[in-house]
Amino acid sequence: MKNVSQAIRERRTIRKFSTRPVEQEGIVSLLNEAASLYEAEGTPHWRCLYFGTPESREALAESMIARVKESNLGKLLPAKMTGFLKKQINSTPAHIIFIAESAETRRQRDENYAAVCSIMQNVQLLGWEQGLGMLWYTDPMFFNGSLFSKIGLREGERFAGMLEIGYFEKTPRARKRTPAEESWSIIGEEDKLHSEFNTVSPQNVLKLLNEAVWAPNDGMREPWRFIYVTGDQAAIKLRSSGEDASTPFLVVVAKEQSDPHKQDEDYAAVCCLIQNFQLLAKSEPWHLRRLIPEWIYDTKQCKSFGIRPRERIVAVLELGGDKRVPDSVSAPVFFEQFSRENDHRR
Ligand SMILES: Cc1cc2nc3c(=O)[nH]c(=O)nc-3n(C[C@H](O)[C@H](O)[C@H](O)COP(=O)(O)O)c2cc1C
Repeated sequence: MKNVSQAIRERRTIRKFSTRPVEQEGIVSLLNEAASLYEAEGTPHWRCLYFGTPESREALAESMIARVKESNLGKLLPAKMTGFLKKQINSTPAHIIFIAESAETRRQRDENYAAVCSIMQNVQLLGWEQGLGMLWYTDPMFFNGSLFSKIGLREGERFAGMLEIGYFEKTPRARKRTPAEESWSIIGEEDKLHSEFNTVSPQNVLKLLNEAVWAPNDGMREPWRFIYVTGDQAAIKLRSSGEDASTPFLVVVAKEQSDPHKQDEDYAAVCCLIQNFQLLAKSEPWHLRRLIPEWIYDTKQCKSFGIRPRERIVAVLELGGDKRVPDSVSAPVFFEQFSRENDHRR
């Protein structure tokens, strides 16, 4: 990425595209670059479906409309409205549906979902630099039951969203973000905060977070909060192995949300923010490791960090310490051009 900070701050959700076509080759290289920018422990498993031809878009539009017509709301929608929706889908140059693959444990399922959402954010940022605008679309009116079976969503897989992609003429106005300081707390010994060994001070972290909050998030819920953990007592729980005791951590939390659909969207938005933070941290003199440790699934442990029952820790970021290459990099992109034949896979 040429200028990470600028791409993060200037990217906007685009809902109106020009007719200029988007080449498949460009999309494939965007996906590969986006996947290579994702760094975390483990190998994530995800896949995507590309709707880049007029025929595949037509098939997608038909499936989406069929789903709406089945619903109670759809029965009330005038034909003019469904015609408009169909035209919208057909005229958007490219669509990609992103899917987190199934896994045996809850932690692995979260790893896959976090990876695919973070990669979607990378796609948005890289695309933005090339003049491509995108809309991350998850509307449950369309993305549900029959559409999922039409596109071949397998048992245990998780739909992360569809990116609508195209060139555009008008950039929408920015929707302001809340300063990170307002969603921030500190746990730990005061003296460690200002220790000369503490290379990653709260101020350093807040500076990056205030850029990272320019993440996309549905309904502008800004569903994140941050806990900066420092000092021996607090950080000892989080330390994965014998790092320097002055290494602080940032626990990134998705706020309480009772609606399951919004819960997923919020988790996805927090992943975008974390991805922004990771990209920004690459140009800092300290190092960062993104972890989903086992203890976050233990309510007692979470409680000791003040995590509320319906909040979820999305990642623990280890800030500073030795530079370590992640255990593995992301798996190659499994890219599928959607065609009508996909309808018969199940
Ligand atoms: C997980 C996720 C789901 C989203 N779903 C929708 C959606 O269904 N419809 C929509 O119009 N926008 C959707 N958005 C985009 C947000 O509305 C958009 O990010 C927000 O308004 C902030 O605008 P910005 O992206 O230009 O900063 C979604 C964003 C995320 C991250």
